[in-house]
Amino acid sequence: MWWLLPCILGFIRLYLDGVKVLLYQLFNRSFTLPDLPKQNGKVAIVTGGTRGMGYEISRHLASLDMHVVIAGNEEQEGLAAVKKIREDLNQGKAGVMLVPERRTEDGFELHFGLNYLGHFLLTNLLLDVLKKSGKPGKCSRIVIMSSATHYGGRLTLDDLQGRMCYSAHGAYAQSKLALLLFSYHLQDELWVRGDSVTVNAVDPGMVDTALYDNLSSPAQLAKKPFAKLLFRTPAEGASTAIYAAAASELEGIGGLYLYNGRKTESSALSHDQRLQNKLWKESCALVGLQ
Ligand SMILES: NC(=O)c1ccc[n+]([C@@H]2O[C@H](COP(=O)([O-])OP(=O)(O)OC[C@H]3O[C@@H](n4cnc5c(N)ncnc54)[C@H](OP(=O)(O)O)[C@@H]3O)[C@@H](O)[C@H]2O)c1
Repeated sequence: MWWLLPCILGFIRLYLDGVKVLLYQLFNRSFTLPDLPKQNGKVAIVTGGTRGMGYEISRHLASLDMHVVIAGNEEQEGLAAVKKIREDLNQGKAGVMLVPERRTEDGFELHFGLNYLGHFLLTNLLLDVLKKSGKPGKCSRIVIMSSATHYGGRLTLDDLQGRMCYSAHGAYAQSKLALLLFSYHLQDELWVRGDSVTVNAVDPGMVDTALYDNLSSPAQLAKKPFAKLLFRTPAEGASTAIYAAAASELEGIGGLYLYNGRKTESSALSHDQRLQNKLWKESCALVGLQ
């Protein structure tokens, strides 16, 4: 029975974090985006830009004249999103939550592989381009979508793929903690080398999107009234990420955890440099990077 304990704790921690966020949202208004400068000549790559917050981020950045590339899973959905954005007007967000145990094509646990490793690899593959295009006063920006669930997250280095004990709740929280460990480590490396690239992580709050589709039926029912009253809309949830991508006052500033448009403290574990190093090395080995 002892092996069940991490699963139960992961479950409890995730829901406690959720309750804290809902209480915050009950008493605080959503961050209102200030006017942002036009972004002519800049390119944004938004993973998961087809729906939910990713769509809202793509739409808003396109309205600022950025050239937006939506990196998605389903070509048709991607094309439909582009069409809709064009009709309406003229960065890492893709994610899944609470998925029953499943593997990516490469055999990684789905939350770890999709939410974290995919963004780790994509960012590393784009890093040379980001370094070349960033200049002092005009840095390239990496915006990572984390979550308050990271506070309860634990990194099980000897079982990152959840083979010994799988908990969907623990796996989601671990993927969001891994994104933060990665963001801070990457920013430190970039600063040491003097590169003009900033990395900030964002917590969008609890937002009413399809992310909750994997909740069990009773949980879906229980969630409905809360979602109506307390969850943010996708546009509200997207606002902090858009701010991180385009605000002038964040030029040259990185290594932040932003919540509701403000710098916030992430968990002590996310700042653990030994853990950051270990995860970085392990991630390189998993995706075959030198
Ligand atoms: N909603 C919240 O309360 C909340 C809270 C904290 C953090 N977040 C984070 O915010 C991000 C966006 O979530 P959301 O709430 O906007 O969810 P959503 O509406 O479900 O959108 C998720 C996006 O991820 C993409 N995606 C899913 N599987 C993919 C795959 N295998 N490959 C590529 N893309 C894939 C989806 O694109 P396809 O349709 O093409 O699959 C979709 O565009 C996630 O990282 C999530 O963890 C959300």
